[in-house]
Amino acid sequence: MFGFTYYTPTKVLFGKDGEKQVGKLVAEFGGTRVLIHYGGKSALKSGLIDRVKAALDEEGIFHVELGGVVPNPHLGKVREGIELAKENGIDFLLAVGGGSVIDSSKAIAYALAEPDKDVWELFEAKRPAKGCFPVGSVLTIAAAGSEMSNSCVITNELTAEKRSYNDDIARPRFAVMNPDLTKTLPDYQTESGCTDIMMHTMERYFTQGGNMEVTDEIAEGILRTVMKYAEILHKDPENYEARAEVMWAGSLAHNNLTGCGNDGGDFVTHMMEHELGGMFDVTHGAGLAAIWPSWARYVYKECMPRFVRYAIKVMGVKDEGQGDEAIALEGIHQMEEFYHRIGMPINMRELGVEPTDEQIIAMAESCERACGGKKGSAKVLYLQDMIEVYRMAL
Ligand code: NZQ
Ligand code: ZN
Repeated sequence: MFGFTYYTPTKVLFGKDGEKQVGKLVAEFGGTRVLIHYGGKSALKSGLIDRVKAALDEEGIFHVELGGVVPNPHLGKVREGIELAKENGIDFLLAVGGGSVIDSSKAIAYALAEPDKDVWELFEAKRPAKGCFPVGSVLTIAAAGSEMSNSCVITNELTAEKRSYNDDIARPRFAVMNPDLTKTLPDYQTESGCTDIMMHTMERYFTQGGNMEVTDEIAEGILRTVMKYAEILHKDPENYEARAEVMWAGSLAHNNLTGCGNDGGDFVTHMMEHELGGMFDVTHGAGLAAIWPSWARYVYKECMPRFVRYAIKVMGVKDEGQGDEAIALEGIHQMEEFYHRIGMPINMRELGVEPTDEQIIAMAESCERACGGKKGSAKVLYLQDMIEVYRMAL
């Protein structure tokens, strides 16, 4: 194992009706003037925004609101939020939504802490952040894990670049997690979320070094649990217990619990999916499902012990003396079967995009730039490797 820092400062309020406590939570963390940030229509339609406003009013907390965050959140909306927040002397960002809304809030929060600088520079890796205003969230979808993560992913819609910036100072102060709020999700979003949760665990699992038994067992438990409840939710979306299991797994999968002791993880699938999101605006989790099987087949020989362990302990493949390679490949195949069972794609065509070879090369070049030239732990991938994986994933 390697040494590590485990930092999860986010206070979690989990269970029914948690959003009623949001005023008290904002006050507890020093917020006096709040920007309520949300997405399209879902949080308005369900009445959640009204309930959140009432909870803030009860504590006498000033608030303004800004909706309209889209999936793969846009830099333009972030800039709009920065202006509105400055005009109103905002000192706390309250995200009501999913990863896109939380990330848009984090980006505004970074900008408010350094008002004379362009926030996009963080995402271009031109400078580190020196500060970040406090962020809290009321989560409405179990997926990205942004409610506890140090990550923020924004798309510059003018250049079609989707970029992430990671810093512990952006980890939210609190997360309100009421599984009931996720019952209105369309099935495709629920299952994309489950796929993303699994991928956050798998990115940290398929590594060459530093793995700890306790971390591996936690990761495998999260993976098996999410698989079980993803299938239940596919048929029974109103199931509270299933919603709750998946919601908590989503946070644990990306607050780095499953990365403790390892070499930092692989994350190539994520980086390659971000390019798909930037160019084709696909749903993040579904995009991951479309890339992963090809990535896995491209790298498994270099990371055989992990793929064998995964096949046996997560995908339930029996070791009947067929040999490591057959076990590993069966594990990948079983993963594809699972994706199909929950309505997820296993390649880009099934995802609904068919990039030309020119577009594949453009995505790979952009990915290489975002990765600083290379990326990966299961196998380190360079430009040509990324091109190959995209071609396999067609
Ligand atoms: O905008 P509304 O109307 O709310 O609709 C949203 C959106 O269309 C809908 N939705 C959310 N909650 C709902 C609901 N619909 C009905 N009922 C509800 N309760 O779901 C759609 C997707 O929402 P979004 O916030 O985009 O989902 P998700 O949480 O999957 O976030 C995806 C974004 O997070 C980034 C992704 O790249 C993508 O941009 N990620 C962020 C990470 C992080 N910050 O740690 C890590 C991840 O790897 C990921 O990259
Ligand atoms: Zn993700």
